[in-house]
This record gives sequence, C-alpha cells and structure tokens, in this order.
Amino acid sequence: MTRSKKAWGGRFKKETARSVEEFSASIHFDKKLYRFDIEGSIAHARMLAKQGIIAKSEAAAIVTALESILNDIEKGKISFSIADEDIHMALEKELMRRIGDIGGKLHTARSRNDQVVLDVRLFLRAETENVLMLLQKLQTRLIALAKKEIKTIMPGYTHMQKAQPVLLSHYLLAFWEMFGRDAARFGDCKKRFNLLPLGAAALAGTGLPINRSATAQMLDFPDVTKNSMDTVADRDFIAEFIFAAAVTMMHLSRFCEDLILWSSDEFGFVEISDAYTTGSSIMPQKKNPDIAELVRGKTARVYGDLVSVLTLLKGLPMTYNRDLQEDKEPLFDAVETTKNCLGIFTEMLGEIGFDRDKMLRAALGGFSQATDIAEYLVEKGVPFRQSHGITGKIVAYCIKNKKSLEEMTITEYKKFHNSFADDILDRIIPKKMINARRHTGGTATKTVLARIREIEKETGK
Ligand code: ARG
Repeated sequence: MTRSKKAWGGRFKKETARSVEEFSASIHFDKKLYRFDIEGSIAHARMLAKQGIIAKSEAAAIVTALESILNDIEKGKISFSIADEDIHMALEKELMRRIGDIGGKLHTARSRNDQVVLDVRLFLRAETENVLMLLQKLQTRLIALAKKEIKTIMPGYTHMQKAQPVLLSHYLLAFWEMFGRDAARFGDCKKRFNLLPLGAAALAGTGLPINRSATAQMLDFPDVTKNSMDTVADRDFIAEFIFAAAVTMMHLSRFCEDLILWSSDEFGFVEISDAYTTGSSIMPQKKNPDIAELVRGKTARVYGDLVSVLTLLKGLPMTYNRDLQEDKEPLFDAVETTKNCLGIFTEMLGEIGFDRDKMLRAALGGFSQATDIAEYLVEKGVPFRQSHGITGKIVAYCIKNKKSLEEMTITEYKKFHNSFADDILDRIIPKKMINARRHTGGTATKTVLARIREIEKETGK
C-alpha cells in the first residue's frame, strides 16, 4: 500500500501509523465543510495577492483551481480518503495535484487553527438562515391555526390539573412566542460568531503583512476577531448555537408531549393525520403518535450534543488543542436534528384536527370557574382572601352534593355570601370567563385577535 507523504511531514522520519491516521482523521465528518473551506481559501488567496504576498497570477491560478475543485466535488467526482486527515489537508492536496507548487502558496499566513474556525463560522452563518426559515414556517403555521381555531375553547392546565378555560388560539400563540424567542436567540448568537477569524494563524498571528479587513469584506463579515489567542481557542459560539438548538428542541418536545397526551382516547382533543402516525405490528386498532414521540426523543440527542461540547471545553488549556476537533460531530448532529424536527413537526401540525366539542366539554368540568367566582365577589368589594375562602367552601359543597358550579342555583350561591346576584351564573360561562381577561397577554378573544394582528403587522403578512 502506498502511503501519502504528509504536508506537515518535514520533521518526521517515520510514516504515521495507519491506526493513527484512522484514529485522528476527521475527513469523514468535516468534509461537510468543503464549500466553506474553499470560499475562505479563495478570499485568503485574493487578500495575499492584494497585499503583494503572492503574485496576482498565482492567486488567479489558485482561485481557478479551487473553483474547479468545488465544481468537481459537487458533481461527485472527488472522493476523500482517511489518509487526507481532514478537509483542509484534503483540499490543499488536491489543489497541489492540480497546479503544483503554486498551490503550496495558499497556506501562507494561515494555520488550520484559524482556518477551521472560519469554516465553522461560515457553516453556521448558512445554517442560521436555514433554521430561521424553518422557525418562521412553523410560526406562520401557528398563526394560521390560531386564526382557524379562534372560537375553540379548551381547558388550560397547571400541575396537569384543569385550571381555567382558555382559547386554543391563546395556547397556540404561546408557542409562537417561544419559537419567536428561539429565532431571536439564533440571531443573537450570529452577532457574536459573525466575525472573521483568519489572521490569528496558529495562535499568535503572522509576521507577514496581511490585511484582515480586506478578507473580512470579501467574506461579508462586518468585523474581525480582536485577539488571535482567543480566536483559535474560542468555541463559545458552537456551545451557544447548540444551546439555542436545545431550547428550540425543548419547546418542540413540550408541544409534542401535549399532542401525544391529547391524542389519547382519554383526552381525545386532537387527531393527528394518518400520514403522520404509525400502526402497531400486533394491535390492529392502534394509531400511534410516533412522529411527536420521536421529536420528543430526539431532544435528548441535542442536549447530549450541548453537554459534549461544554465538557470538551471545560478546563481546556489555551489555545488550540486537538480535542477541539471533537466539536464538529455534536454541532452537525444538533443542526441536522433540529432542522429535521422543525420540518416534520410543521408538516404534522398542518394536518392536525381538533375536536372542538370535546375540548369545550372538558373546559367546563373540574370547577374551573372557581377563580372567576372569587373575582366576582372582589368586584362586589369582598377582599380576595375572603372571597377565595368563600369560593373554596362552595367547591367543597359542590363536591359533597355532586354538583358542578354551573348547576348551583342563585339561592344556593346566596347562602354563601349575600353579594351574589342573578348575574353570577352568566359570569361563569367559559366564553365570558375568557373574554373577561382582556388585558395585554390575556386570553380574551379580542386580545388574542389583536396579538395576531400585531404579529402579522410585525412580520409583514
Ligand atoms: N481537523 C482539525 C480540527 O478540526 C483542524 C485543525 C488542526 N490543527 C492542528 N493543529 N492539528 O480541529
């Protein structure tokens, strides 16, 4: 077997052991970065020529060759091997194979240490756009559903116990807010990673007369990083991005949990379309919410990715250490998993049916009008602590007499406090209770509709 000479092999007398090549290679996963590596190298070569560090004709030859390499990779004409170590070495080797020693000038004033973070920053810039687009699609679907279900009343829960009736639209918009914060988090993360790292070289910068802002401009970075040591040591932005992904997954998993529960026979609030459920291999009657369960389950992977990266960074000495190569697989996994889950969840949401009657009936039970009764008394001047106690006694009376709050007569109410009047029964119908909560953030139909209008205005819909 012919073994390739390493680009860094000058000082080595013995060949790298095959086992070491296999153990230390990252090409099988970092080949994903080829486009960004080439984009970065093209800008770097142009900057080197602009500064007179290499000749203009040399830069032109390098750029042309890199562009044709990109084209060939995209057409599937190039395959990488383990001996290439990583995507940076593989591309440089291919470049030199094509244009000889001129290709060897590309790595001037650059190290793989600043090169690899450039690639990841460019990768994340593209992926941020992808994730933001998926979040936006999900949010748009939520708005459409919220409009469709504006009359649907459901029981709101705390402690998984029926608490107070709310609009289903209000529930859906709660997730709109969560996914909105997720989008803001990804955008905020981008502000910190969207800086040019090239120029840091191995760790201390370079003695050659580079022009970092020229490279930054070519690669559309608004600024450059400010400390070469920090630049090659820093992976905060990777941890931050995965954190943003983990929170998004957490939100999805909570939504999934509700849908799984609500699609059970016991609840029967929702029906997930056949296209997004699966059957059982033994029980013919089953229709399982597997997609929602898988999204919930995959949240664990992304948490794992976050913990992997944080643990990788803990106690790591300045500056670059090879450990850092281990940052990519968790990052790639988190990005792929989050994108897949956002995509399929949005699809599934488009084919979901709500059983409006069942939801309304459920909203009625469980003494969910109790707070409104207490507030009714407050409106009549009774201090809240007292009205809370009185209403508690009414609930106890109902339980004892096997009655619901709406089945109580006015005379019965009056026995508990003389402030109760004929309007009490009207006050505790779900629609009235809902529409009483008309302050900003409340569940009143008017308020929810106003929020929808506000969102549509903000998002230009
Ligand atoms: N494959 C390496 C990584 O992902 C690239 C940087 C290698 N640098 C080095 N000094 N060995 O971190």
